[in-house]
Amino acid sequence: AMTLSQNGTGTGSGQLSAIEEAKKSAAIACAKKHIPSSGCRLGVGSGSTVKHLVDYLAENYANGSINNLVCVATSYQTKRWLFEANLPMSDLDLTPELDVCIDGADEVDKEFNLIKGGGGCLAREKIVQTAAKKFYVIADYTKQSAFLGEKYKYVPIEVLPFAAEPLLRWLPAREGGSAELRMAARKCGPVITDNNNYIIDWHFDKTTQHNWKETQMRLNNTPGVVDCGLFVGVTDGVFFAYPDGSVQEL
Ligand code: 5RP
Repeated sequence: AMTLSQNGTGTGSGQLSAIEEAKKSAAIACAKKHIPSSGCRLGVGSGSTVKHLVDYLAENYANGSINNLVCVATSYQTKRWLFEANLPMSDLDLTPELDVCIDGADEVDKEFNLIKGGGGCLAREKIVQTAAKKFYVIADYTKQSAFLGEKYKYVPIEVLPFAAEPLLRWLPAREGGSAELRMAARKCGPVITDNNNYIIDWHFDKTTQHNWKETQMRLNNTPGVVDCGLFVGVTDGVFFAYPDGSVQEL
């Protein structure tokens, strides 16, 4: 582990909560280390931590510190942020190979295995991550766990709407725990992903030990499952930021 920065002085931190400061510190430390100043094809993840990455890119692209950049978004929301920040965008049709992908996570274990998909973007996130040569995770201290499930309670799974009802029965029958269709904020209907699918949150049994690699393979091999929020063995590095402003690259 290497301490990358100490920023506990409070400089410019008047507006942000401690947790937002941590997200921002993680995003900036990762960008400084892994985004080259010229010629990067960058996969841009989703979520509130990634928003700080977009802000950093916007500033450094506008002032010329970063140039020849091309960004591929992992969600509609990220695409909007990139657009509003005047950052150059591409897609996987035009740019199927990426140099680096940077994304957030909901939980990160000691081996850098992840649970993602809290925001429902997991399928595009995994495609963009797979298209990139290197994959780095940016996270605040609340996401750091000894093992998956220590803090987080469920694995988000993107499913075809046609298969949602049977999957709500098959998944707990086979894997234990319980399964819930994720509903939109005002509960009039299910969350619809960027791919026009549904999300099932599988609340796994915390009293049994899980082999997450095998679980991921079984989930992804189930008819109707598009992808799941388990990212096992794909992370090249994690940037954790702490309340004192320090960032560690693990
Ligand atoms: C979205 C994700 C996000 O990366 C994850 O939910 C983390 O988000 P945040 O940075 O807002 O905590 O996987 O599907």
